[in-house]
Amino acid sequence: MQHARIIGTGSYVPDNIMTNDDLAEIVDTSDEWISSRTGIKERRISKGESTSEMAYYAALKAIENANISAMDLDLIICATITPDSFMPSVACMVQERLGAKKAAAFDLSAACTGMIYAMVTSAMFIENGVYQKILVIGAETLSKVLNWNDRSTCVLFGDGAGAVVMSVSQSSRGGMIAHHLFSDGEKQSYLTLPSITLKNPYVQPETTDVPYILMKGQEVFKYAVRSIADNIKLLLSKAKMEKEDIQYIITHQANFRIIEHAAKISDISLDKFYVNLERYGNTSAASIGIALDEMNRKEIISAGDKIILVGFGGGMTSGAILMEWA
Ligand code: COA
Repeated sequence: MQHARIIGTGSYVPDNIMTNDDLAEIVDTSDEWISSRTGIKERRISKGESTSEMAYYAALKAIENANISAMDLDLIICATITPDSFMPSVACMVQERLGAKKAAAFDLSAACTGMIYAMVTSAMFIENGVYQKILVIGAETLSKVLNWNDRSTCVLFGDGAGAVVMSVSQSSRGGMIAHHLFSDGEKQSYLTLPSITLKNPYVQPETTDVPYILMKGQEVFKYAVRSIADNIKLLLSKAKMEKEDIQYIITHQANFRIIEHAAKISDISLDKFYVNLERYGNTSAASIGIALDEMNRKEIISAGDKIILVGFGGGMTSGAILMEWA
């Protein structure tokens, strides 16, 4: 079977930095509270960039890094829960801006696990010989769906986009070795972001839902820690590998304490977990792509390294990919 591998990475975050001290001027919070509970020091907040714009900028960099042209793309998948519109999709907007005329394009919704779901979906097309080159993007403007009066949520999130170009692995080395996706709809109330309330000639609602992120923080925390540990264990077993074989683990960047707890119960050194959430906060579907791009450009990862990517988030959803960097 042919493997899918990453041949290029890119990312984009808005220039505008909002520090914890800036937030303390908006809601009743402090740098001390946010830093000690989450590890987050600052986040990027859009001053006008839309999800599709950030997705486009990240995509451009990934395509350049992959050394291909937009016309080589067969498919564009964008993972997002904050699209510019219900229609057209962010992926179609990016396709137009890139001039990727051959590519099919669609959005995918799996909240903070979106990048993992999109990469696994992409791998299916590649492994089955349907497509050769796929652009996978995770992009979010979470700042537009935050209640800026709710200190329990608005301090956690940020805006940004990450992208990868995936293709067929040309050698026996490199590419995706194992992956898995989970969903648990029974826990859907842990993290929600309502849509438009039904209103038509037959239904006149008394109230309308507010399109803000709502969260049961402690339940999400426990779900996240468990998900990271369970996904790592499952993938190691699927790949017939030991944790010692893994050089790096990139989890969804939500909270440093989540990563710390997961490392502890997995009995894996915290040093193997890449962390950049102190600079970006939780960027949902964008976080894993941004982290991967940073590691790639800083040459932290090198050919032959085994890496595990783990996502978790609303749905609830979780999932992971074990790959060899090529
Ligand atoms: N600043 C100051 N105080 C705050 C605050 C803030 N930003 N947010 C909440 N508080 C207060 C609460 O009001 C509460 O006060 P009280 O004791 O007087 O009632 C106190 O801090 C403790 O709140 P609690 O919600 O119990 O804190 P916690 O220790 O569970 O930490 C989170 C809260 C959100 C940091 C933590 O639950 C968490 O990280 N959960 C996972 C969230 C996540 O990652 N979501 C996305 C996943 S994809």
